[in-house]
Amino acid sequence: MAALFILLAVATTITSSVQGAGINPEQVHISATGDSTEMVIMWTTFITTNTSMVVYGEHGSNMTNNVTGKSVKFVDGGKNHTVRYMHTVTLTGLKSATKYDYKVGCSEKWSNTFTMTTLNNGTNWSPRLAVYGDMGSTNAQSLSRLINETNAGHFDAILHIGDFAYDFATDDGKVGDDFMNEIQEIATQIPYMTAPGNHEEAYNFSHYINRFAMPGGHANYYYSWDVGNAHFILFSTEVYFFFQYGPELVRYQYEWLEKDLKEVNSRKDRPWIITGAHRPMYCSTVDGDDCNRREGIVRVGYPFLHEYGLETLFYHYGVDIELWAHEHEYQRMWPVYNRTVYNGSDSEPYVDPKAPVHFITGSAGCKEGHVLSGEPMPWDALRNRDYGYSYLTVINSTHARWQQISDDKGGKVIDDVTIVRNNGYPAWL
Ligand SMILES: [Fe+2]
Repeated sequence: MAALFILLAVATTITSSVQGAGINPEQVHISATGDSTEMVIMWTTFITTNTSMVVYGEHGSNMTNNVTGKSVKFVDGGKNHTVRYMHTVTLTGLKSATKYDYKVGCSEKWSNTFTMTTLNNGTNWSPRLAVYGDMGSTNAQSLSRLINETNAGHFDAILHIGDFAYDFATDDGKVGDDFMNEIQEIATQIPYMTAPGNHEEAYNFSHYINRFAMPGGHANYYYSWDVGNAHFILFSTEVYFFFQYGPELVRYQYEWLEKDLKEVNSRKDRPWIITGAHRPMYCSTVDGDDCNRREGIVRVGYPFLHEYGLETLFYHYGVDIELWAHEHEYQRMWPVYNRTVYNGSDSEPYVDPKAPVHFITGSAGCKEGHVLSGEPMPWDALRNRDYGYSYLTVINSTHARWQQISDDKGGKVIDDVTIVRNNGYPAWL
């Protein structure tokens, strides 16, 4: 009888600890909407809750405001069909460039209190972004430095352009959960903005779709986001490679990109147009990727989809800077269009460049290590295989600064260029 009692007591303890974990808000992260008075806050629980609520107030004051959002039941596609509840709350009416304390959850269980900083308003400021791709849960070489720099207030937002966790869906999604908890210290403080990569492909990108809340209402695949003097366009190169999920996505996205570019082409409000997506148009690696091909699919489209190649579209509408990842290295290019290098021999090649400037920043660290470098191509300005991330400062309407930070060299700046457009407009238009 005593043994039975002990057994029951142990079982009760286990059950309540599992429930405690299940209701505990975790994987908390925030994203921007393009309106500096708003912020989207997301988190995960493993059992359903009576509400999804954020309680908040200006930093240092009482958290007297509360907003209720929604939760979505997300069933993993793995063999155990693990259920997660993805909670989303949008805060509105916030002050720009202001710190807020907040906690998330429900009356049964609240998270710790976090502090976020809202983005500034308008163009009279210089947003600073950490940019990288290809960061996993294992071997996330840049993560500790990114956390330290975020805690020191050196970033306004993050751009993670594809390939997360390695992979979100691995081990019934536990690897994805670990990764989201590992970035929580960053992603609770500043917007963690994303684009999808090939490692998000499982179960029709459902982990990527359900784990983030990017603006625009297109499953986090493509959206634009204004910050400071920049109009960022994040999109999916994966629609060109995973046709089983709908070949029409190539056209939908292309038409959306063209519409978005037409709308911003006056450049009155946001002089810089900066794209970010996972698989590059150009590279000089030797891994058989799309960018190794003379006629890459992202750059010129499939033969039967020729009109959906992106290089001419971006050139035509004057995209200034194109950010990529996927290759596990860092590459800066000379201004390039149609495999022709512009300004490459100028003493100041990034002053009034006559074509878009491409960067690959896929070296934040993952279990796959580095990619092999091939023979340099004419458009290569600098190649580096250190682990690290990039640091973009959109200084004003005419100057944007790009730096590469090396983790192998203790945070040293190993590349530093400023792109200048004296007329506040691309020189080739
Ligand atoms: Fe990739």
